[in-house]
Amino acid sequence: MRTAPTPPPGNLVARQVFDGLAGRYDRLAEWLSFWQNRRWRAALVDAVAAGSPRLVADVATGTAGVALALTARTGARVVGFDLDEGMARQGLRNVRAARASGVAIAVARGEQLPLPDESVDALSFTYLLRYVDDPAATIAELARVVRPGGIIANLEFAVPVSSLWRPLWWLYTRTVLPLAGLLTGGMPWCRVGSFLGPSITDHYRRYPLDWTVSAWERAGIGEVALRRMSLGGGIVMWGRRK
Ligand SMILES: C[S@@+](CC[C@H](N)C(=O)[O-])C[C@H]1O[C@@H](n2cnc3c(N)ncnc32)[C@H](O)[C@@H]1O
Repeated sequence: MRTAPTPPPGNLVARQVFDGLAGRYDRLAEWLSFWQNRRWRAALVDAVAAGSPRLVADVATGTAGVALALTARTGARVVGFDLDEGMARQGLRNVRAARASGVAIAVARGEQLPLPDESVDALSFTYLLRYVDDPAATIAELARVVRPGGIIANLEFAVPVSSLWRPLWWLYTRTVLPLAGLLTGGMPWCRVGSFLGPSITDHYRRYPLDWTVSAWERAGIGEVALRRMSLGGGIVMWGRRK
């Protein structure tokens, strides 16, 4: 009898974190970020729209918020990929509710996209790299599917650089966020609220921003630029496939 291969540790963490979040994700992602998530998402969409794409891959699409915003803004067809079936199902429900015929959703890992080389005009990914075991290999895989000249853009949380905001961010993520998660979404959101701060800090300790920029360049992405937003709590990074 053949047993299914054990998923890599990062994928297991992602499944544990997102299990049970899909139903309330859209509302709570906004509340708990003080409505900054929508500003960050709009900046990400602006970066992708600058390349006037016709076909976009949106990786870690979750409930399809980015995919829907992309198709509404650019008229492009968008294929959203997510590892977690619960999030992908909610994404599909949101796509149907929005009657967005240009968006398709599939269950797939960012580390291994079911797409041929250079097959899309642009690619977006959100909050992904903290959940993969080999960020450099994942960035290379994302770049593989984008045609030369196409835009690749990412949205991620960040640690504020200012010595004024960093301690306040630390306090918010370690104390307020778990409690606010518990009060607004129950135990699954308390767990994610407790997980997020240490996950963000640990990610940047292991992979500082300079490292990430050079990983993008090593993956064949040029003209890399970034924009820190909301006092440094969010970051949008984009570049062009060489
Ligand atoms: C915070 S949600 C972001 C959802 C959406 N893009 C947004 O901006 O609202 C992160 C998503 O990444 C997905 N994810 C985590 N690891 C992944 C991987 N290795 N491949 C694909 N998706 C992954 C999770 O299942 C989750 O839905």
